[in-house]
Amino acid sequence: MHVIDPATLGPRAAYRLLASIVIPRPIAWVGSVSAAGMVNLAPFSFYNLVAGDPPTVMVSVGRRGMLPKDTLRNVQDVPGFTLSVVDESLAAVMNQTSADVGADVDEFALAGLTRAPSRLVAAPFVAEAAIALEARVVQLVPVPDASYTMVLGRIVQIHLRPGVMRADDGLVDAARLRPLARLGGDDYAGLGAVFTLRRPGG
Ligand SMILES: Cc1cc2nc3c(=O)[nH]c(=O)nc-3n(C[C@H](O)[C@H](O)[C@H](O)COP(=O)(O)O)c2cc1C
Repeated sequence: MHVIDPATLGPRAAYRLLASIVIPRPIAWVGSVSAAGMVNLAPFSFYNLVAGDPPTVMVSVGRRGMLPKDTLRNVQDVPGFTLSVVDESLAAVMNQTSADVGADVDEFALAGLTRAPSRLVAAPFVAEAAIALEARVVQLVPVPDASYTMVLGRIVQIHLRPGVMRADDGLVDAARLRPLARLGGDDYAGLGAVFTLRRPGG
């Protein structure tokens, strides 16, 4: 086994190695709006469900140089955001929206995506996504000594295209959703074989 102290790698190499270890990561587009009402969209893979009740997600947003990314500044100013699930068919367009563009650029327009209006938050979501969540910011948690801030958001609305739901149990059919996953470097993956395991005693 290689044994590596990440501190010896330097920050970029350590990040790159660990981002190739903690895989596959789901990808969500975060939609947000600025205090002036400018819409923003960007993809995030440091993202997950962190509580079921109340339903809570986490998105970890880095800085760009010394400045917060537009997403972080927006959710600080206007504490409602959306998460649109990125599937395989949306991979190329998702990549376009990760471009480092100014706060005055609407990434929906840049990538030719359609804004769908939310019900409970000001930020729109991506109409082309089969699933979108509306979330209210509950806490901003600076990651100690890091340039990242974890945004904790409570899910207040779930939008689902009926075609991705299973008729028998109402859950999302992963094979029909075909979620896109982020791997290390510039690699991505689709879903492999899906199998079922019952929990012991369950
Ligand atoms: C697949 C993918 C996942 C990404 N995940 C993150 C992430 O979790 N955190 C982050 O800070 N940036 C992430 N980025 C980079 C942001 O999308 C990028 O910096 C974007 O320009 C930020 O936009 P904003 O300034 O409009 O918020 C990711 C990019 C891609 C392509």
